[in-house]
Amino acid sequence: MEIRIQQLGDEHSLAYVRSQIDTFGAHADPAAFRISATGATAFGVLEGPELVAKAAYVQAVTNWNGQRLATATVRDVTVDAEWRGRKIGRRLLTTLLRDAHERGCVLATLYPSVPAVYRALDFEIVADRSLWRLPTAGLAVRRPPEGVTVRRATFEQAAEFHDRYVRAVDGALVRTAAMWDPALTHTVAVDVSGTRIGHASWRRAEDHLLVADLTAVRPEAYFALLGTLATWADLLPETRLWASAGDPLWLVLPGNPSEVVGHHRYMARILDVPRALAVRSWPVDGTAEIGVRDPLVEANTGRWRIQASGGAVEIRRVSSDPGVEALTARALTALFAGRPGADLAASGLGTVPDDVLRLFASGPTPRVFDGF
Ligand SMILES: CC(C)(COP(=O)(O)OP(=O)(O)OC[C@H]1O[C@@H](n2cnc3c(N)ncnc32)[C@H](O)[C@@H]1OP(=O)(O)O)[C@@H](O)C(=O)NCCC(=O)NCCS
Repeated sequence: MEIRIQQLGDEHSLAYVRSQIDTFGAHADPAAFRISATGATAFGVLEGPELVAKAAYVQAVTNWNGQRLATATVRDVTVDAEWRGRKIGRRLLTTLLRDAHERGCVLATLYPSVPAVYRALDFEIVADRSLWRLPTAGLAVRRPPEGVTVRRATFEQAAEFHDRYVRAVDGALVRTAAMWDPALTHTVAVDVSGTRIGHASWRRAEDHLLVADLTAVRPEAYFALLGTLATWADLLPETRLWASAGDPLWLVLPGNPSEVVGHHRYMARILDVPRALAVRSWPVDGTAEIGVRDPLVEANTGRWRIQASGGAVEIRRVSSDPGVEALTARALTALFAGRPGADLAASGLGTVPDDVLRLFASGPTPRVFDGF
C-alpha cells in the first residue's frame, strides 16, 4: 500500500501518543492527550489509516548575538520498528523542516538519541547540557561579600532575570512560561540597587538537591547563591546540577566535578542561510564569499557574499551556482556555532577558504538551558 505524509490533527492524537509510548515509554495521561494542546505542528506518515511514523516541531525563539531567531524545536520523532531503515524518517523530517522554513524558522534544533540520523539531514551538535553530581558542601566557596543579598523569588522575578541573562548567550532559547518547571523554587541574588544579578532554581529531590538553573552576572552573586545552596549539605549531601561544560560557573567553583549522571547533546541546522548569517556577530571587517549547497532547502543553495563593516553585515546571494567547494548546511551550521575551520577540515566536513575563516573566527560558544 502507498504511504503518504501529511500534517496531523486531533483525530490522530491517540495513534500519536501510542507511538510515543511504544518508543519512549509511559505517558502521564494518554487518553487526554491532544495534538492541538501541545502547540506543536505535527506531521505523520500514514499507510492507509495507520500512522507508521510521526514527528513534530514547536516554534520557539533562540537568542543569538543579542538578537532573536525563530527556531523550530523538533521533537517526538518516531518511526514504527517495522518501517525503520527505509528512508521514512528522512522523508518525514524533510517535509517537516521545509514546512518550518516556509513558516519563517531560521534554525531547527533538537536533542538527538542518534546524532547520525540527523547529520544525514545536515544537523550538527552545537551545544550540550549535563547533569553533574557534586557534594553539596563543596558549593560553599566563599563568604558572600557585602552588598549582595539572596531572596526567595517569584516565578516572574526569576523569569525577568533569566530572560535578561540568556539574551547574551548564543543558542539559548527564550524560555516561555510553559517551559518553566512549576515544582522549582527560585532564589535570586540582588545588589545594593535592588537589581537582580543572579538566579538559582532548585528543588529537593528524593535523595539529592536538584539545581536546574544557576546563573549570575557577577562573582559575588555566584558566591551568594552557592553559599545558600550549600546550607542543604547536612540534609542532602549530594547535589545534581544542570549546566553546559562551557558554563562560567566552572570558573567559580574550586572543585572539578567530573561525574556526569545525565548528558544531552543539542543539534542545530540552519534553515535560512541569509537570515542566520545576518544575526551573527562580525567583529572583523572584511568581505568574503561562501558557497552553500542545500538540497533540503533549495533557497539556501548558491554563493553568498558576506560584507562586514563596523559590526554591521550585508549578506547577498551573488550566484545560484555554489561552486565545487560548497559547504553543506551541516558544515555551515558548525561554523556558525563557532567550530574552528581546522575541525571541519580534519573531519572531512568541509574546506573553508581563509578569508571566510577570518570573518567567522569570533563569537562565544553556544549554551543551552532548556530540555524538550
Ligand atoms: C531514528 C529514526 C527516527 C530514523 O528513522 P528511519 O526511517 O529508520 O531512518 P531513515 O531510513 O530515513 O534514515 C535517515 C538517515 O539516517 C541514517 N540512519 C538511520 N538510522 C541510523 C542509525 N541507527 N545509525 C546511523 N545512521 C542511521 C540513514 O543511513 C539515513 O541516512 P542517508 O539517507 O544519508 O543514508 C527511527 O529509526 C526510530 O524511530 N528510532 C527509534 C526512536 C528514536 O530513536 N527516535 C529519535 C529520537 S531523537
